[in-house]
Amino acid sequence: MRTSARSGSCASSRSLWGGNRSGNAIFKRGKGNDMSVRRALLIGAGGFGRVHLNELVRLTDAGALELAAVSDVRLTESAAAIVAERGIRHYADYRDMLSAEAGADFVVVSTPIPLHAQMSIDALEAGYHVLLEKPPGALLQDVDRIAETAARTGKLCAVNFFAPSRKAQALIAHAIASGEIGRVRRFKAIALLQRTSAYFGRTPWAGKLTSAGNVVLDGAFHNPAAHLLYSMLKLAETAAGEVGRDSQPVSVTAEMYHANPIESDDTTAMRIEMSDGTTLSYYVTLCAKKTETQRIRIEGTEGAIEWDYDDQVKIWRYGLGKSYDCAEGGIVERRYRNLIGTLDGRDDGLDVSLDSARRFTLVANGAFESAGEIRGIPASFVRLSDAADQPGAYIEGIEAAMKNAFAAGKLLSETGLPWTVQPEPFDLREYRRFPQRFRMNGA
Ligand SMILES: NC(=O)c1ccc[n+]([C@@H]2O[C@H](COP(=O)([O-])OP(=O)(O)OC[C@H]3O[C@@H](n4cnc5c(N)ncnc54)[C@H](O)[C@@H]3O)[C@@H](O)[C@H]2O)c1
Repeated sequence: MRTSARSGSCASSRSLWGGNRSGNAIFKRGKGNDMSVRRALLIGAGGFGRVHLNELVRLTDAGALELAAVSDVRLTESAAAIVAERGIRHYADYRDMLSAEAGADFVVVSTPIPLHAQMSIDALEAGYHVLLEKPPGALLQDVDRIAETAARTGKLCAVNFFAPSRKAQALIAHAIASGEIGRVRRFKAIALLQRTSAYFGRTPWAGKLTSAGNVVLDGAFHNPAAHLLYSMLKLAETAAGEVGRDSQPVSVTAEMYHANPIESDDTTAMRIEMSDGTTLSYYVTLCAKKTETQRIRIEGTEGAIEWDYDDQVKIWRYGLGKSYDCAEGGIVERRYRNLIGTLDGRDDGLDVSLDSARRFTLVANGAFESAGEIRGIPASFVRLSDAADQPGAYIEGIEAAMKNAFAAGKLLSETGLPWTVQPEPFDLREYRRFPQRFRMNGA
């Protein structure tokens, strides 16, 4: 692949991007002189919730919204100091917060995965909109319960999946609609990540299939590279829509392995067949020597598009390439901005709706069903380490193996790797409930 010296900026392309979508002014509520701001509540202020707490405090200072209260069962010392200093109310029980803070507009849920469904449902029932951390739930049936509640209460549920920026999506949609890469045939996504052994010790549910009696399915594609799988499904949805088609996941074939001493997967490859005939291939490992920028490649009959995690887009037509910088700033701020913009009628909808995020859970649950179990990679192929700058488990040659499979659009087991096992496809069309045939914890 080659890029030419030509390059472009998404930001300068007003035809692809309306002028009202950037800048702090869009946080201002109402179309007239009403300058009141939306009020937020946060459940879970530690772990990743600390990112939310910091961002909500920063945006409160900027006058963009107001953080009214937080709930956490174990507020850290530093979070407690922020809360006390700012006069933010704290509740140990989130249900007390939901009933006491009726003037607030939306609730951010950033807690362990098994708690997502009940907390979101309680918040929606109490009359709040919700911004839910990814993944929306471990189980498809949980996501459907949240969706049913959102539909019944008429409240919004946004999901904090990282996805291509609006600029990137508009650029890619335009390229596909105008036939720049010909007919779209396949999507591929690759995440070569390094995670230390400490990563799996950070929280009791890390790397677990079940925790405290709840299903968590916390593995490579359900957590650190969940955004990439969601993003590929989102781009497939966008691409199909551009040529007037609907495209739903029809089946998934997934092989899942672990080299780390964990229950769930740290190395997975999967293939998803879509109803419009396109194929999606996905590769992730947490056992690489170094983390590389995650990327998605869309291949058409006359060219290709690549998007990466830095929102850089490259478009090739017959080998001649152009690069575009489509970065739009911090993802968490963008999610708040989009939820508020949607509530106030300035945005035309949620960037990541629960409906769209459901495809992720459908495919993710189906991937476990297809794999049937998580297979251990034999010790002779693995180097274990407790060092802070080394992967907890390094799989010999994993980078080249993954890149070869990615280039060929094959599963790892189709490339002849010795520790792999060919999986069975799993039909997603009538799938509603996990698990159907997956052996949880080897049971
Ligand atoms: N968007 C991202 O890039 C990103 C990155 C990391 C994690 N996450 C997601 O964030 C969520 C939280 O993950 P984490 O690693 O921070 O989890 P965690 O186990 O560290 O818990 C987060 C916080 O929730 C609190 N909590 C637990 N039970 C609670 C309860 N009943 N009521 C109120 N608070 C409670 C904990 O005390 C903790 O402070 C998960 O969905 C995870 O997938 C997202």
